[in-house]
Amino acid sequence: MMPETLTITDNRTGRSFDVPIEDGTIRATALREAKIGEDGFGLMSYDPAFLNTASVRSAITFIDGDRGILRYRGYPIEQLAEQSTYLETAYLLVFGELPTNAELARWSDEITHHTFLHENVKSLMQGFRYDAHPMGMLISVVAALSTFYPEASRVDDPEIRMQQVVRLLAKMPTIAAWSYRHSRGLPYVYPENDLGFVSNFLSMIFRIADPKYLAEPALERALEVLFILHADHEQNCSTNAMRSIGSSRVDPYSALAGAAAALYGPLHGGANEAVLTMLTEIGNVKRIAEFISRVKAGEGRLMGFGHRIYKNYDPRAKIIKQVADEVFEVTGRNPLLDIALELEKIALEDEYFVSRKLYPNVDFYSGIIYQALGLPVAMFPVMFAIPRTAGWLAQWLEGIQDPEQKIARPRQIYTGTAERPFVRLDERSPGRAVTRSA
Ligand code: CMC
Repeated sequence: MMPETLTITDNRTGRSFDVPIEDGTIRATALREAKIGEDGFGLMSYDPAFLNTASVRSAITFIDGDRGILRYRGYPIEQLAEQSTYLETAYLLVFGELPTNAELARWSDEITHHTFLHENVKSLMQGFRYDAHPMGMLISVVAALSTFYPEASRVDDPEIRMQQVVRLLAKMPTIAAWSYRHSRGLPYVYPENDLGFVSNFLSMIFRIADPKYLAEPALERALEVLFILHADHEQNCSTNAMRSIGSSRVDPYSALAGAAAALYGPLHGGANEAVLTMLTEIGNVKRIAEFISRVKAGEGRLMGFGHRIYKNYDPRAKIIKQVADEVFEVTGRNPLLDIALELEKIALEDEYFVSRKLYPNVDFYSGIIYQALGLPVAMFPVMFAIPRTAGWLAQWLEGIQDPEQKIARPRQIYTGTAERPFVRLDERSPGRAVTRSA
């Protein structure tokens, strides 16, 4: 048997030492043995953006980026998308197993009965400007919920923890829908307990004067699938934020607001919004070649393409493409789809994209579907945040219960000035600042 160790020789001292290898990984702290002198600090590893650093052990989501595989708790995403519902998938992520009939019924009932928001939340939302971005509203309202449930700060109590999980899963669609209604100047629609998770959300979004809004079944199912696909994606930027903020043992509302803020960025959950903007700007299939040349020249990116982990077709993008066809059968074809399909075809044959293993990701087609459903571009990141709540919460729970969890606190390599004496105001010369103050 070959030893499961790595031998490191520090050429500065000539000293060699063995570092254990576990699960194809070495502990970064083992490098501290490489020190000069007894009091030396030892080596650190430098890994901005965690390109090669595992920050947690997790049993939730498995991704093999080279083979395009995604599984939640061992179940392939394709099977979940075909046979499961969002609420069932959320249960799976949170509890680790698929629910029995009775468990699912209880879970659905609990979530359904927590969809209402405190009336003061409504007043809070009404205080936003008429044109407030719904994602900004969502982030703020989620943070504000911690003031409505102060007991949530007792993160060591399993019962209290689970109560917040149910509340957050249940209230997210209501917050999301009300953010949308606000930006349209429409009255907020209250949840209806006889509707399912997705149909209730669609009713809160679209109901105007009718006593009941019943969504087209094909569209409801399409959204259900999109929610399943977006439910978790292991240690992505927003999940890392959730875990990192959660490691300070703050309440889950505050942590989740931070995670949602991370999701808002155009390189993450804001990418579907950016894809739509890009497709609209291209505007015509004939202008694709010119657009691709600009991307290759470094003038902007092909949004919805590329992924830190997938170096193959994102399995979620494959499923979404099928969903798009089903949606367009009902809504009629979105003309942007032709541009997207042609763009994908050209990019998949172009040496620039092929050599960098850039394939369509989940966001390349999701925006086109949301638009076909009648949602404005500003709602796209919100549509991502609703289902990702399940993943954020599952990962937060796992972190809180992990005996190895400590407050997240990376090291740095200091590049600033060495110690120097304070300069009095009247002795300072202008133009010395490294960062402009205005
Ligand atoms: N268009 C053109 N070139 C690209 C793209 C792109 N979309 N993505 C990466 N590249 C190039 C990049 O310029 C670099 O080239 P070079 O080696 O010549 O400098 C190379 O590919 C590697 O890129 P990177 O920036 O080092 O890769 P990363 O792992 O840091 O970035 C990414 C991953 C997703 C941020 C990036 O691919 C990107 O910006 N994509 C567009 C935004 C997007 O679609 N984001 C959604 C991600 S999926 C949903 C989610 O999880 O949020």
